[in-house]
Amino acid sequence: MASVLIKNAQIITMNAGEEILEGDLYIENDRIMQVGGDLGYAADQIIDAKNKTVIPGFIQTHIHLCQTLFRGQADDLELMDWLQKKIWPLEAAHDEESSYYSAMLGLGELIQSGTTTIVDMETVNHTDAAFQAMAESGIRCLSGKVMMDMGENVPDLLVEDTTKSIQQSVDLLEKWHQYDNGRIQYAFCPRFVVSCTEELLTAVRDLSKHYQVKVHTHASENRGEIQIVEMQRGMRNVVYLDQIGLANENLILAHCVWLDDEEKRIIKERGVKMSHCPGSNLKLASGIAEVPDMLDRDVNVSLGADGAPCNNNLDMFNEMRLASLIQKPHLGPTHMDARTVFRMATIGGARAVGMENEIGSIEVGKKADLAILDLYKFHTYPSSDVDPISRIVYSATRADVDTTIINGKVVMEKGEVKTVDKDI
Ligand code: GUN
Ligand code: FE
Repeated sequence: MASVLIKNAQIITMNAGEEILEGDLYIENDRIMQVGGDLGYAADQIIDAKNKTVIPGFIQTHIHLCQTLFRGQADDLELMDWLQKKIWPLEAAHDEESSYYSAMLGLGELIQSGTTTIVDMETVNHTDAAFQAMAESGIRCLSGKVMMDMGENVPDLLVEDTTKSIQQSVDLLEKWHQYDNGRIQYAFCPRFVVSCTEELLTAVRDLSKHYQVKVHTHASENRGEIQIVEMQRGMRNVVYLDQIGLANENLILAHCVWLDDEEKRIIKERGVKMSHCPGSNLKLASGIAEVPDMLDRDVNVSLGADGAPCNNNLDMFNEMRLASLIQKPHLGPTHMDARTVFRMATIGGARAVGMENEIGSIEVGKKADLAILDLYKFHTYPSSDVDPISRIVYSATRADVDTTIINGKVVMEKGEVKTVDKDI
């Protein structure tokens, strides 16, 4: 048994009452055992968190680790140009080694900035190497190889035979799903409607039901993309996904910038999980998603940084801040307040991956996935007048994260990321 005791902290629980407590937090193995109060000093590892703030680890529901190495190589383009001219040729050029290091580079950055769970999408090839990196890093993740069996201007190396794409996905699922006691899960990743045949999408629907795993894809990100789908399928993205039977509570849908009323209604009625990527939507000039409207409709909205080149940053602090700020000019300053976006970054992400009873808040019995922030290091001073959640959303950066804990293991301390799993 391994135990960790965090002493004298401010604890932002994000439990049902969204309580902020003072005191200690005790972890045994991978679970939170006690929260708050003075818990004494018996533990294998004691962390003094005086004047520090413990938060639930961030859950990012849309990431492309395979794109981390392409940061800066695809700037100032819009989606379809960006994919065709830059991203697809770069993905096609990946080999096993570059896939592993691209993942490791992204994972280091995510863990340093307090992200403890990701929903990732790899490229067509070398996904096994990326899973290897995810296993070693200690991150909690849902990931899978991208599937794309048609498309204009997709390099030959990325256009798959439908049967092979499905077989390779199932092989990876059988190797990695539920690895390390469920820390790693497989998710099917058809890239987007534009690059997938109906045969592929139908197979994904059946396999995701059979294996009880999530489906992670992009939809309605950009007006050009929507036009292509309308030409190909004669209808809009979400209507088409619904017709296939993919619009259900196990679907994580990235972007959803340009939804019409019918698509919004389908997302709500079917329990589809929306992943909002404000940084990427701004940089690729995709648009501003109608998140306040989706929240009013009681749709679960979580956050993701997308890939490094669509954002230049994998930092959840950035996404929270942007998710709030981009709505304020037209809705007014009290809309998309700090608590709303912090909820999207934590418990909202947990709901998206169907793990709200395991992660997303600091509660007894949940997995110990946490970050310890030192908010007084650089830019502020202790004051009971300042709401700590507001302080985090509007002013914190990755440099404020002192420690990241996943599954009860310290995976980052003072900027240094530790490899947790070398025996694979
Ligand atoms: N749509 C299809 N593929 C991609 C991708 O790699 N990134 C983004 N942002 N959108 C996509
Ligand atoms: Fe994406």
